[in-house]
Amino acid sequence: MFEEIEIYAKENFIPIIRPKSRQILMDEVKKASPSNILEIGSAIGYSGLCMLFASSASLVTIEKDEGRANMARQNFGRYNVAERVQLINDDALKVLTNLAEEGLQFDFVFLDGPKGQYHKYLPLLTKLLVKGGTLFADNVSVMGLVDSTEPIAHKHRTMVVNMRKFLSDVSSSTQFESQILKVEDGILIAKRK
Ligand SMILES: C[S@@+](CC[C@H](N)C(=O)[O-])C[C@H]1O[C@@H](n2cnc3c(N)ncnc32)[C@H](O)[C@@H]1O
Repeated sequence: MFEEIEIYAKENFIPIIRPKSRQILMDEVKKASPSNILEIGSAIGYSGLCMLFASSASLVTIEKDEGRANMARQNFGRYNVAERVQLINDDALKVLTNLAEEGLQFDFVFLDGPKGQYHKYLPLLTKLLVKGGTLFADNVSVMGLVDSTEPIAHKHRTMVVNMRKFLSDVSSSTQFESQILKVEDGILIAKRK
């Protein structure tokens, strides 16, 4: 799907969702049949396009990197879905804070931004998700390090500690019913009660 974007991402070292995880994401979107979706981490629009083509939802997607945001815009235009998309080129924490203050809510959230920040986003995402809505977070295994009992290399430590906190906060929250799929880099699927 969107093969030329996959090739571009590979050649330019842009991380995009992996094939099995993408299929699960699209199946979850189809199942949820959302009217609106929030994505944290657009990159060049690949996963956004997958979700748009799996539903008739509108999409708010956040990307900090200006070059990637511009490419994502082009790709949404290329596949004629630009009118369904609001792309916000800014820092996710700032944007999520603003969206929550505005009282906006979404049926489906795809969390695929900076892995060391998921725990900070969780309280905001809880507000931003409707009851019965789905939170889908990618890369929750952080290269298998989250479950590792070995000492974590310094450069990954903060990210791994923060991801463990995120997973523990979700599983102990009374607001969510969640499961972790050990597929590729790990997926968390949580339903807001
Ligand atoms: C794994 S990539 C997203 C891949 C995309 N969801 C896909 O599968 O096609 C993560 C993206 O988050 C962006 N990002 C990193 N820190 C961010 C921040 N603080 N706010 C918003 N976006 C951020 C990165 O620039 C990167 O493009």
